[in-house]
Amino acid sequence: MKGVLLAGGNGTRLLPLTKYMNKHLLPVGKYPMIAYGIHKLQQAGIDDILLITGSKSVGLYAEYLENGRNFGVNLTYRVQEQAGGIAEALELAKGFIPPDEKFVVLLGDNLFQDDLKPFIQCYTQQPPGTAMVLLSPTDNPHRYGVPVFAEDGSGKLLFIEEKPVNPRSRHAVTGIYMYDHSVFEIISRISPSDRGELEITDVNNLYAAAGTLVYDILQQWWCDAGTFESLQEAAVHMKDALP
Ligand code: G1P
Repeated sequence: MKGVLLAGGNGTRLLPLTKYMNKHLLPVGKYPMIAYGIHKLQQAGIDDILLITGSKSVGLYAEYLENGRNFGVNLTYRVQEQAGGIAEALELAKGFIPPDEKFVVLLGDNLFQDDLKPFIQCYTQQPPGTAMVLLSPTDNPHRYGVPVFAEDGSGKLLFIEEKPVNPRSRHAVTGIYMYDHSVFEIISRISPSDRGELEITDVNNLYAAAGTLVYDILQQWWCDAGTFESLQEAAVHMKDALP
């Protein structure tokens, strides 16, 4: 199985730090943020990874990570020319993923403690055309995509609301997604949101509408390190996560 690590975006919530440095290269404890995502994929047995970032920073990533050998992985780089949303970045992975293979997508600013292996194992047993999202309980659901669960006891996820003012659950959809090649056809069907981006939530909602979105819940600490507060929190939690 291959992995796709998304490390683009403008990081506006972390200005002025991100004026000169891509968010995913900012320090978290002893390492640049990106190291943790690579480690999580590698730990789960995923060693063929596509890293997608902007043209301004790709050289810095290559300088730090090189071809990935020192991190136990094989890295391929692809450039997203403008920050046009997570789904737009993901579309760039199309040629990297063989038609019959499932893959894992990580947003590089999502740091977490769970081992991905059991979740991946569960996803590999799903029928083709299924997508999987991982959720995490949170005190600030309005900052994230928030799932709306079916009330009929079916355990289904009806749809996801992106940054709702009145969240209908206390779970966040984390930036850990699993897809197969069907995702590229789904991406081709969505349009830019009000903020002009191709939203990953719109992609996941098309799966949900078709009844092909499954989910699982992380058991341990998770955070989106995209704000000053969460960046500090991440540094504390990740202090000893890597040797
Ligand atoms: C993105 C997704 C959101 C998700 C979050 C997780 O938001 O759109 O659904 O909950 O990542 O980190 P962003 O951080 O890009 O605003």
